[in-house]
Amino acid sequence: MTQGQAKRRHSELVEEIRRHDYRYYVEAQPSVGDREYDALYHELVVLETQFPNLTTPDSPTQRVGGQPIKAFQPVPHLLPMMSLDNTYSQGEVRQFVARVQRLLPGENLEWVVEPKIDGVAVSVRFEEGRFTLGATRGDGSTGDDITGNLKTIRGLPLNLRSSRKDTSVKIPKLLEARGEVYLSLDKFKKANAERVAAGEDPFANPRNAAAGSLKQLDPRIVARRGLEVVLYGLGHLEGSEQPARHSEVLDWFKGLGLKTPEKTWRCRHEQELIEAIDQLDKLRHDFRYQTDGAVIKLDARALRDKVGVTSKAPRWAIAYKYQSEQAETKLNRVTVQVGRTGALTPVAELEPVHLAGTVVKRATLHNEDQIRRLGVRIGDTVTIQKAGEVIPEVVGVVVRKRTGSEKAFEFPKRCPDCGGAISRGGSTGEEVAWRCANLACPAQVRGRLEHWCARGAMDIEGGGEVLMRQLVDRGLARDMADLYSLTLEQVATLERMAEKSAQNFLDALEASKKRDLWRLIFGLGILHVGSGGAKALGRHFATLEDLARASEEELTQTDEIGEVIAHSVFQWFRDAVNKNLMERLRQAGLNFRSELYKPRAAPGPWAAKTFVLTGTLPTLKREEAAAKIEGLGGKVSGTVSKNTDYVVAGEDAGSKLAKAQQLGIPILTEEQFLKLSDIGRRPH
Ligand code: IVH
Repeated sequence: MTQGQAKRRHSELVEEIRRHDYRYYVEAQPSVGDREYDALYHELVVLETQFPNLTTPDSPTQRVGGQPIKAFQPVPHLLPMMSLDNTYSQGEVRQFVARVQRLLPGENLEWVVEPKIDGVAVSVRFEEGRFTLGATRGDGSTGDDITGNLKTIRGLPLNLRSSRKDTSVKIPKLLEARGEVYLSLDKFKKANAERVAAGEDPFANPRNAAAGSLKQLDPRIVARRGLEVVLYGLGHLEGSEQPARHSEVLDWFKGLGLKTPEKTWRCRHEQELIEAIDQLDKLRHDFRYQTDGAVIKLDARALRDKVGVTSKAPRWAIAYKYQSEQAETKLNRVTVQVGRTGALTPVAELEPVHLAGTVVKRATLHNEDQIRRLGVRIGDTVTIQKAGEVIPEVVGVVVRKRTGSEKAFEFPKRCPDCGGAISRGGSTGEEVAWRCANLACPAQVRGRLEHWCARGAMDIEGGGEVLMRQLVDRGLARDMADLYSLTLEQVATLERMAEKSAQNFLDALEASKKRDLWRLIFGLGILHVGSGGAKALGRHFATLEDLARASEEELTQTDEIGEVIAHSVFQWFRDAVNKNLMERLRQAGLNFRSELYKPRAAPGPWAAKTFVLTGTLPTLKREEAAAKIEGLGGKVSGTVSKNTDYVVAGEDAGSKLAKAQQLGIPILTEEQFLKLSDIGRRPH
């Protein structure tokens, strides 16, 4: 491939990937499957490896920066980032309208109503169309430079010029746009499930999750979270006429390929405004993000300028906060649960009550500080709500309903399960949760065993709470290795166990010995290691022994593994109890080899890519094709699985081809394969 051809192909690929990103993230209408997208992306990576001079800062490959940064740098905003005053009733909204009308006598006021997105405010700067700077609000005049983290947001164009929908839209010299970064409700649930699986506290709500993600110093970790952005305002503008109305700004943004609020209303008078707020309340539950209110903005810029701003908020806009769905019910008891990491979580046991579509019997009280902050007593009537529409939590006490018979709740001084000592602060000294320090605490052992058996981990059918409780209570299992020496007799004599179900459980244990290494790593329950982290370790390390031997530095350098995980893994393998556990698991015959492992010994443009060859190729012998793949750092495998990247198919290809089609794996003809390897091989 010549430089000229490479350049042409490069811009085609960049354009196509950008178009898919736009369709998916801005218009929410995917135009391509994951596999196809990945294939395009991979081709781009290969091309840029061979022709490094083609890599531009706005190439999709540049979204995830290389190394984590040490700290965020402060950046001044070109125009202060203000906040909004809040209102909570129609009456207050009417008062606001009247106030603005008094400041603008005789003017005909028009308004825009938008969803108030519950995320983190950001400012994004485009110079000559290029995304150059992204910042948090900070104190309003100076924020943190989070450019690297914002680049990972695929719905944020890196170049307005190429993302422009309407090519007649002019690119300004400098544009600073304001908006909200958020985590969709789906991703929020997913992130929380992963955190819990990794022994970490879940985020309380989507806003905390977005804020926590943006604070990460490692853009690779941010990229995994899958943040999104909506832009709803103009900060600073140079080299272009400011639109006369806010509604025109939003249209202009859309024309530039920027994502704007899902739905907006233009209202000519107060009544329309109130109706729009009501309509939004009905629609907002279907949005991808959490909305806690409506934002009402004066449309005409000239009128905005006339009414001006106060020290903290504009006088031309206001937020209207919706009542979050809440319910009142009686708090019967507080139980304190001990998780597998020893964390003590107080849980409110409630008189069952309907809330936002489900019956709620239990709600989290988070931690001891929260109980104290709420001043909650046993027997109180409490207010509950769903955080991020998902997790019920106690948010207040209805003090006027007290009868005098309520009792204060004493947080336990020792572990409620084993009676052992508890402490708090954690390794950072900042953790609010109390933890039981006794690793042999039955609650922790149970939790660890259940986690080991869980579907996402070793997937051992039948290994649920009831069985694990009995095994632990009878002293039959103190750790995971003990499970593998259980006898049929031992299991069959347990409650609710017949010989058949006992045998099934033993068979499931036997089958689990062959599981891939990442499942075992995840199942070990190492703090901070979720299934994503375990897979990343499985890709980097060929065996559990290799992982156990790895230095903290090597762990940190592993793809997708940050310092926190690296430290936790390193410590885990230094512990004598854990070393003994590993040895016994090995003796029990568990698989310690990683199927995900991709050798990096021969780094090349195809490193980490797995090919399967099938059928008779027109000109290449199988060994020749394999040599080409390995020469470029790729791997040849005999079986098609979801870890296969490409299948090269010739004549009379059979079941492997069918499997690849079924899994949606890209299938290459010899010609296409040669073309791809050509890009990989020829020096520029
Ligand atoms: S306009 C000068 N529009 O709410 C006006 N803000 O409580 C600044 N927010 O700091 C904001 N959705 O982070 C505006 N459609 C929207 C919004 C929105 C969410 C956030 C924003 C702001 C906060 C104020």
